[in-house]
Amino acid sequence: MLHGDHVTLRAIERDDLPVLHELLDDDLELIARASDTPARPASLAELEHRFEERLEEADPRTMRFVIEVDEELIGECELHFIDHFQRTCHLGITLGRAYWSKGFGQDAVRALVDFAFRDLAMRKVGMEVLADDERAVGAYTKAGFVEEGRLRAHAWFDGEIHDTLVMGILREEWASGPHH
Ligand SMILES: CC(C)(COP(=O)(O)OP(=O)(O)OC[C@H]1O[C@@H](n2cnc3c(N)ncnc32)[C@H](O)[C@@H]1OP(=O)(O)O)[C@@H](O)C(=O)NCCC(=O)NCCS
Repeated sequence: MLHGDHVTLRAIERDDLPVLHELLDDDLELIARASDTPARPASLAELEHRFEERLEEADPRTMRFVIEVDEELIGECELHFIDHFQRTCHLGITLGRAYWSKGFGQDAVRALVDFAFRDLAMRKVGMEVLADDERAVGAYTKAGFVEEGRLRAHAWFDGEIHDTLVMGILREEWASGPHH
């Protein structure tokens, strides 16, 4: 398990799927903010199918976790595009709407970044985020990420075109940061 100040990150179990589905899969705004593929509600059966597929075709470039607070499941997060030659990876996170803006996002991001640098020996963790998503940008900034660039008119979200920020944190920034 990975531990933040308040959150715990652990592997996803089959029994988590109904709760994850309830938390995350019916909320189109949440899905659209977290993904650059078209947002649509997904059924529990689809989630179960994807879970089984991932077990069968384990992808070494992706690690997924559920996020818990006081043993209550509040969301999920992952490292993907894990590249052991470049020693880079990307981070993704979604919390159920009821858990937004309570500091849990930045806590989980710190725990995941710590794992990426300490245990996976990464030298950089990156991500892309809608430029005007102040809550997400705020959470990543508090966890030590900095803006690396702006992709203009890059994302379709809620019926409009938005800029996307490329953000990242380097190993040396993590090592000298307050959370190391
Ligand atoms: C993005 C997400 C993981 C952030 O986690 P969170 O727990 O909501 O965020 P946190 O409370 O840890 O941090 C938000 C920070 O942004 C700041 N902030 C700035 N503008 C804000 C705004 N308009 N609304 C809320 N917070 C804002 C907050 O003040 C806070 O900083 P603080 O600790 O100094 O108060 C979560 O909101 C989420 O799952 N959203 C939906 C999916 C998503 O957007 N995923 C990310 C896609 S890249």
